[in-house]
Amino acid sequence: MKHLIRIPDWSVAEVADVLRLAAEVKAEPKRFRKALDGQTLAMIFQKSSTRTRVSFEVGMHQLGGTALFLSSRDIQLGRGEPISDTAQVLSRYVDGIMARTYAHADVVGLAEHGTVPVINGLTDFNHPCQALADLQTIQERLGDLAGKKLTYVGDGNNMAHSLMMAAVRTGMHFACASPRNYTMDADYVALARELAEETGATVTETDSPSEGVAGAHVVYTDVWASMGQEAEQAERVVAFAGFQVDEALMEKAHADSIFLHCLPAHRGEEVSAAVCDGPRSAIFDQSENRLHMQKAIMITLMGAG
Ligand code: CP
Ligand code: NVA
Repeated sequence: MKHLIRIPDWSVAEVADVLRLAAEVKAEPKRFRKALDGQTLAMIFQKSSTRTRVSFEVGMHQLGGTALFLSSRDIQLGRGEPISDTAQVLSRYVDGIMARTYAHADVVGLAEHGTVPVINGLTDFNHPCQALADLQTIQERLGDLAGKKLTYVGDGNNMAHSLMMAAVRTGMHFACASPRNYTMDADYVALARELAEETGATVTETDSPSEGVAGAHVVYTDVWASMGQEAEQAERVVAFAGFQVDEALMEKAHADSIFLHCLPAHRGEEVSAAVCDGPRSAIFDQSENRLHMQKAIMITLMGAG
């Protein structure tokens, strides 16, 4: 049984294959109209979502299947039914489960106890679907991924972790610029560095945004307070002072650099409106590619082969 829980669980070849398939799905959507004919995807959401929910639901429809939106507020999971029981019950009804949870262990538990493929639609630790879709966007805009520099500026969060591993699997050079108390998980960085040897990727960390973006082909940022961290918003705005991606910072990147953000964005905080809505920004291509990439992910995991 194959899942998408975190990017390093997929090999270099598997990441390359899903990127190729996503490009085909985007170019010729009609060819895949029956790819998941009659199948059902259960979508569990403990957190809000616009892009993930709509792109999975529309994607499943476009592949000939159906998607069920299950808010944890409405299903028994929200009243304490164990993840293990939820996984076993849903596996008797559906062909795949996508879940957005707080604890990463919950998505892992769904995969361990269920008997159908599980897709991580964001946890506090990872956001692999977004990072794979971002690889598609970077490839479309800049061509070959290997050797390009991707710099993430901001909180060492779920998005940073998945982008780091996406870079490592495709031979990109990944730099993360974060304030000292908001760096990425040290064990995950160590794993990334180990895996990087296979593709020639590199992983660097700095607390200087200017140093981080020097020569970057892609500059990426995300919110300073993620879902579940709303109470820390005020202290984070102070801690992240100097980490806004603005035009002055973009000037330090490669002359043809692009700006990416997974969205939702807070203009005036982690990114200036001028950059977010400026000529280098590819934010809405990123959102669109969530649809194509997730169709490719679902075909890979749930298709007849
Ligand atoms: N980028 C992303 O995952 O957006 P949503 O929270 O709207 O799904
Ligand atoms: N880091 C953000 C990503 C949202 C898509 C969060 O977890 O809220």
